[in-house]
Amino acid sequence: MSGEMRVSMLSRDLDMPVWSSEKGSGLEIPVEFSEADYPRAEYQRRQQFWDPIRVALFTLAIVAIIGIAIGIVTHFVVEDDKSFYYLASFKITNIKYKENYGMKSSKEFIERSHQIERMMSRIFRRSSGGGRFIKSHVIKLSPDEHGMKILMVLMFRYPSTDSVERIKKKIERILYQSLKTKQLPLTINKPSFTLTSIDSKKMRNLLNSRCGIRMTSSNMPLPASSSTERIVQGRETALEGEWPWQVSLQLIGAGHQCGASLISNTWLLTAAHCFRKNKDPSQWIATFGTMITPPAVQRSLGKIILHENYHRETNENDIALAQLTTRVEFSNTVQRVCLPDSSLKLPPKTSVFVTGFGSIVDDGPTQNKLRQARVETISTNVCNRKDVYDGLITSGMLCAGFMEGKVDACKGDSGGPLVYDNHDIWYLVGIVSWGQSCALPKKPGVYTRVTQYREWIASKTGI
Ligand code: ARG
Repeated sequence: MSGEMRVSMLSRDLDMPVWSSEKGSGLEIPVEFSEADYPRAEYQRRQQFWDPIRVALFTLAIVAIIGIAIGIVTHFVVEDDKSFYYLASFKITNIKYKENYGMKSSKEFIERSHQIERMMSRIFRRSSGGGRFIKSHVIKLSPDEHGMKILMVLMFRYPSTDSVERIKKKIERILYQSLKTKQLPLTINKPSFTLTSIDSKKMRNLLNSRCGIRMTSSNMPLPASSSTERIVQGRETALEGEWPWQVSLQLIGAGHQCGASLISNTWLLTAAHCFRKNKDPSQWIATFGTMITPPAVQRSLGKIILHENYHRETNENDIALAQLTTRVEFSNTVQRVCLPDSSLKLPPKTSVFVTGFGSIVDDGPTQNKLRQARVETISTNVCNRKDVYDGLITSGMLCAGFMEGKVDACKGDSGGPLVYDNHDIWYLVGIVSWGQSCALPKKPGVYTRVTQYREWIASKTGI
């Protein structure tokens, strides 16, 4: 039927009859076409197949297929997940509160909060519930008549379609289940447990009470760095916010001179030798961010304090403080680093990171983009060997690098940070100070040993 219709339409298009009936016989005999007519008729037929409705349907189908494909790919690759932050408050009854828990830089606070954070990982990692536990940070430990009270931030990834309240219920369910079934080192008092949903800004503000925490611009925690390269033989830092305490100290008119580390909203820690040429604070500016130009934030200096016993000949006490004229606000790109307790001891071969805008070859130019390198601590005994620095390393110095050379800080990195990652909290353990050339075998980088100057820093800044 439809075939016939098509044929009749076709015949109209062609403006000639195609089929003729032999009267009375009931038989339809096709009219013979000349050879030349065939291709034309074929062409017309195909055009007929692609009528506007079919074209529309076909286009719709293609669009739908592409849409579904993109949907599937985004689901698995980009992950349609969103970060959800919660403030948890609860009591622990089997631990007595200690005075030092009030000081966030104390060994007691650090150890106890790591234990609590580890316990949270145990509770939430790999628990069913469709989401993902990212990490937790203790904000505060306070005394309580039955033990102590804990305030902490919990971070999760859940599908963006999930609701804050539903996730809250899931989290509570997982926690209560764990209290019953898991052997936990700390006794959480169940009725005291409260969970409040907070936004990323509130979360960041709460975390600002703690130092040394890195976040990406999307408020995701940064994974621990695993690269083995840098400055001389290093790599550019991949992400904004990877080393948010890094500062570039610049002499007005002469550009970048040294690195420094942000240790509070107003104080920078750097090397004394950086101010050998010029000690006038009004001649200096400090910039923040992973690039020198353009900087993320810029400030002028109001005060420079050199260590009273800095000796340029021996490089002893190569440490200085600089105060900004106006404070910087902490963000994902600007953050202070933690100062270690004076008791912190890093065994030889501990992985540490050095960062800076310094040259990548001896006497090369300053780098506009921040670079980083993983190096390893070297014991003072080894570093003082005759074939290494032959006794030049004093108790206020720390050697880090590799005996075979290759990776090191270099000119322009001075004053910058050497940091150590302890459970995602970063500590300033060294200040780039000196070295014989750069990255030579048996001539590792020498850093100011920050733990030795903990008292001096506190006496000048109160930090
Ligand atoms: N003193 C140099 C400066 O002013 C940095 C020395 C670091 N050298 C080294 N090999 N680690 O920038």
